[in-house]
Amino acid sequence: MKITMIGTGYVGLVTGTCFAEFGHHITCVDKDTTKIDKLLNGQIPIYEPGLDALVAKNVGEARLSFTSELADAVAGADAVFLAVGTPTSRRGDGYADLTYIYEATKEIAVHLKGYTVIIDKSTVPVGTARQVARIIKEVNPDADFDVASNPEFLREGAAISDFMRPDRVVIGVETARAEAVLRDIYQPLFLQETPIVKTDIETAELTKYAANAFLAAKISFINEIALLCDSIGANVVDLASGIGMDGRIGKKFLHPGPGYGGSCFPKDTLALLRIAQEHGQNLRIVESAVEVNAAQKAMMVKKIRDALGGSEAGKTIACLGLTFKPETDDMRDSPAITILPALAEKGAKIKAHDPQGMKEAKHYLPESMISYVADPYEAAQDADAVILMTEWNQYRALELGKLGKIMNNKVFIDLRNVYRPENLKAQGFTYIGVGRS
Ligand code: UDX
Repeated sequence: MKITMIGTGYVGLVTGTCFAEFGHHITCVDKDTTKIDKLLNGQIPIYEPGLDALVAKNVGEARLSFTSELADAVAGADAVFLAVGTPTSRRGDGYADLTYIYEATKEIAVHLKGYTVIIDKSTVPVGTARQVARIIKEVNPDADFDVASNPEFLREGAAISDFMRPDRVVIGVETARAEAVLRDIYQPLFLQETPIVKTDIETAELTKYAANAFLAAKISFINEIALLCDSIGANVVDLASGIGMDGRIGKKFLHPGPGYGGSCFPKDTLALLRIAQEHGQNLRIVESAVEVNAAQKAMMVKKIRDALGGSEAGKTIACLGLTFKPETDDMRDSPAITILPALAEKGAKIKAHDPQGMKEAKHYLPESMISYVADPYEAAQDADAVILMTEWNQYRALELGKLGKIMNNKVFIDLRNVYRPENLKAQGFTYIGVGRS
């Protein structure tokens, strides 16, 4: 099949590359010529494990190409995926900003040739696909097309395996013709019996928001329970196993931490709340998940302050990890962006390290606030406390003896519960986890 992918961000680039790996012919289009030039030179603008090799392979086998010219890419395509950004609106009202979607739609409309399915891959509010259809009809009344929704469920850092082995594929369509095109696109997954949930367009659009809001609520739930465990002296890790092994609950997404971040959960929960409000409904559980997440970050600041004896002023803190999760360079809504400035404002000196995220982090946490260092031990040199902010593999087996020798005070604040408290204590550290005091 001939497929055009509009947008070469995380979603567009991973999806386009994986479709090419399926055997389809993909043209990825982006207005950002710098990005396209990089891709044409074999450079990948984002860090996603395995993506560079898969892009190189499919470019080499002539199934994947990149361009800034939309016209040729769209004419004659069987399907055009919209995978452009939908950031939270700058108005600060939680709505998703659909400018990029609508701009891309207008441009696509002009160049459509032959029957084409226009598919929303970006996470978009309910009703967007219908707006896309309306715009295309307005711009090009003769166009032969259908619109569809096919939300993505890719986790950054594991996006390729999530794409190749999804739990399910959701397709929202309103004609059999569009359904047939989507089923053809995903045909390679039928062999491994991936379930396809076929539904109407609005339900598909809402499914994405509901999935992310549910997961965000699950994390906020365990984060609150972790705080209770801290107060009681109970152990949230054992508790999470105790509830997670119940098949009705499931053990995934029950890891307490400094709060969820990233490109999806914070943005999508807010957008879902706005969608609900527009329809006269309050989603109180989602509202609470958002509030609890903000409170969790504030609680982490307090936890760190308490660990430093009640004040961070004049203290040196080593922060290991800055990105919102490991295996990505993405800093969007990372808890570090809230927690570290709160400490720096009160006079803490912060030295930070991240295996992939430091370049990106500097946009959010300027060097006037934080010193960026080349390795975790350099960060820990003379530190009054180490904070493990992101659970990168590189931080999972630190040499504790070495760490203890170079620190000023042996305080280890493990915001991801990576370490066994008894191991740290045996090495003379004060260990503070989340829900394991
Ligand atoms: C998420 C969804 O998982 C994916 O399906 C969707 O399409 C996009 O959003 P992503 O944001 O890449 O993916 O990462 P994810 O692994 O879901 O983690 C999101 C945040 O939740 C991270 O900040 C992570 O640290 C946090 N998290 C996750 C927890 O704090 N505890 C957990 O148990 C799981």
